[in-house]
Amino acid sequence: MKTQVGIIGGGPSGLLLSQLLHLQGIDNIVLERQSRDYVLGRIRAGVLEHGFAALMREAQCAERMDREGEIHDGFYIAHDGIKERVDLNGLTGGNSVVVYGQTEVTRDLYAARDKLGGIVIHNAEDVTPHDLESAQPYLTYRQGDELLRIDCDYVIGCDGFHGVSRKSIPNDKITEFERVYPFGWLGVLSRTKPVSPELIYATHERGFALCSLRSQVLSRYYIQVPLTDRIEAWSDEVFWAELKRRLPDSVAAELVTGDSIEKSIAPLRSFVAEPMRYGNLFLAGDAAHIVPPTGARGLNSAASDIYYLYHALVDHYRKRDDSGLDGYSQKALARVWKGQRFSWWMTTLLHRFPDSSAFERRLQATDLAYLFSSQKALASLAENYVGLPY
Ligand code: FAD
Ligand code: DHB
Repeated sequence: MKTQVGIIGGGPSGLLLSQLLHLQGIDNIVLERQSRDYVLGRIRAGVLEHGFAALMREAQCAERMDREGEIHDGFYIAHDGIKERVDLNGLTGGNSVVVYGQTEVTRDLYAARDKLGGIVIHNAEDVTPHDLESAQPYLTYRQGDELLRIDCDYVIGCDGFHGVSRKSIPNDKITEFERVYPFGWLGVLSRTKPVSPELIYATHERGFALCSLRSQVLSRYYIQVPLTDRIEAWSDEVFWAELKRRLPDSVAAELVTGDSIEKSIAPLRSFVAEPMRYGNLFLAGDAAHIVPPTGARGLNSAASDIYYLYHALVDHYRKRDDSGLDGYSQKALARVWKGQRFSWWMTTLLHRFPDSSAFERRLQATDLAYLFSSQKALASLAENYVGLPY
């Protein structure tokens, strides 16, 4: 097979880029290792920046998001038995976020690819990029006993943190920056009325907790847990009891509990690989960088990469202008690092670190006290949370 752009990974990054390029008449093929059902079974992010929402509209995939997604003008931070509101709308001069699950975003992107006849190949095994430094890179993959080949102009690595793209860059051509946190998030999805119409990020001496939602009948809750915890140790009853302990009494009293319909533990990590280009391979999304989920930046950082790459590829094919492709890594990384800083700061502010000193805990408390005593500090939090400009 032959195409202009070979995309590895059919998660939100790969599908969004595929759809945007297709609408501009740029040929592309997506290779996804998993089945569609598997990809759609993953419960991940829930908060979309307005920039992401705008990109979904540009990709003509926003109809359901605009109908069913909830616009959130603020969220709460709970601490010391109270909750205080961060007025995103007021602090940013009118910006907000959209609460709409990554699973639904991915479902809508698949539907849009199907409608336009886009090529997304599932169950593609052993995907391998070749000759990335040449002008004729190609991809090989296996389906059953068959070995297939796709020739392309560019390879885009959208295959997440554990994908093959980043790993195919020689060690001396890439630098990795990493912080691993000594805890994870235990997440529970339940068909219950959310405890609060707006998200509550709670800090407590027993650890962090987050009350989020997918709709007014579907709740998503998270609690900080030690990395050594096993999911089997967390029955629904034990989870609800622990969540309640970490919330202000007035919130805990309102919590509606029920059976979990999904329960998983995700480790927390900050990671950036530089540069995001090697020859004619470009990395985007989790393939190049991941953040701890506290600031809801992961999916949104992936979307800004796609925005830059999409425009760079359109300029290349339409205007023979390669400045976007040449500047991609630098431009994307500048924004990626701001997302890293914000996610690291939110994580540090709100979590209980097992080995923190009394001094560090006082600084943490002071950081929080400062935040709610300064409109400028709150405005900084808000402008990062709704998403910095592309
Ligand atoms: P992915 O969604 O990882 O997609 C990559 C795709 O590539 C996958 O479908 C994978 O199957 C495929 N793939 C991998 N290797 C290969 C290969 N060799 N060949 C072909 N295909 C391959 N972000 C938030 O903002 N908030 C959250 O609450 C949140 N929770 C998360 C929970 C978990 C458990 C994880 C893992 C991430 C979470 N994130 C969250 C981050 C967010 O989901 C990611 O930033 C987002 O999924 C990035 O999209 P992506 O398309 O770049 O990568
Ligand atoms: C969700 C996840 C986050 O990491 C976050 O900051 C907000 C919401 C969620 O899954 O709903």
